[in-house]
Amino acid sequence: MGDGIYTAVLDKHRQDFEQALPAFLPATGGLQTTVAEAMGYACTGGGKRIRPVLLLEFCRLCGGDTQQALPFAAAIEMIHAYSLVHDDLPCMDNSLLRRGRPSTHAVYGETMALLAGDGLLNLAFETMLRCSSCLPPQRVLHAASALADAAGIDGMVGGQVIDLESEGKNIDLSVLEALQEGKTAALLTAACVMGARLAGATAAQEEAARVFGRQIGLSFQIVDDILDVTATVEQLGKPVGSDADNEKVTYVSLLGLEPARELARARTEEAIEALAPFGEEAESLRGLARALLKRES
Ligand code: IPE
Ligand code: IPE
Ligand code: MG
Ligand code: MG
Ligand code: MG
Repeated sequence: MGDGIYTAVLDKHRQDFEQALPAFLPATGGLQTTVAEAMGYACTGGGKRIRPVLLLEFCRLCGGDTQQALPFAAAIEMIHAYSLVHDDLPCMDNSLLRRGRPSTHAVYGETMALLAGDGLLNLAFETMLRCSSCLPPQRVLHAASALADAAGIDGMVGGQVIDLESEGKNIDLSVLEALQEGKTAALLTAACVMGARLAGATAAQEEAARVFGRQIGLSFQIVDDILDVTATVEQLGKPVGSDADNEKVTYVSLLGLEPARELARARTEEAIEALAPFGEEAESLRGLARALLKRES
């Protein structure tokens, strides 16, 4: 999944991340083996790893040490993975397929999936807070704070609330934008801002990271909504037609396919414009932004 969206620089971040991740996941073997296995299952299985890659690349662009940023890359992927485990539960989107294999609750049951999500949310903060001896504590705090703000009711959780409360209703474009900003753009923005903060970025660099993350995040969710209508289960590794089945309001249901595509393109252009302060060094991110627009999974 996600084949071909990364240039060599970004693919190296992805590989470094994949190599580092197991050490941050809980050990199995004790009384908590079942939940530890469910947490590991939720974090593996072919995700694109966009949030860790963005975090590491903004860290690099702002002059930071990407090795030291790996625990934070793991932390944001844990929050993302937990959000997907809960999103797939019967009480939310009721989906049995994720990343081309059974969803976490389809394998471990609803109770263990709920607890694995809780465990991942907590483990993300455990992982970041353990870093205050290897990085300047101020940077650790600023990066962790960006993730805390993005994951809560003013971010991802809040977006999921609007998403679920809007099922079967008529909502206008401004509510839809708030929904997508929360459920998806908040974490993608946090990934970029965390990378910048870990590197001790200037205010201008952090602002560029924030604008890029927000625009790429809004575009990313529009494309996710489009793929739910146009792609196959094999391409996506998750059900198609799920938004219509759940009576979700999306840009596709509200505006139609072509205007939704146009909006995603416009958001991507705005994201690319925000990279100007980084000059040529940000060429990989420009390529990623364009590739995400054309992605098929
Ligand atoms: C899926 O995210 C959920 C959304 C926010 C649209 P991704 O498309 O990043 O999922 P994985 O991690 O690659 O499976
Ligand atoms: C999910 O949005 C966003 C979060 C999990 C926070 P979707 O419900 O559209 O994601 P998919 O399509 O199931 O991956
Ligand atoms: Mg959902
Ligand atoms: Mg869903
Ligand atoms: Mg979706």
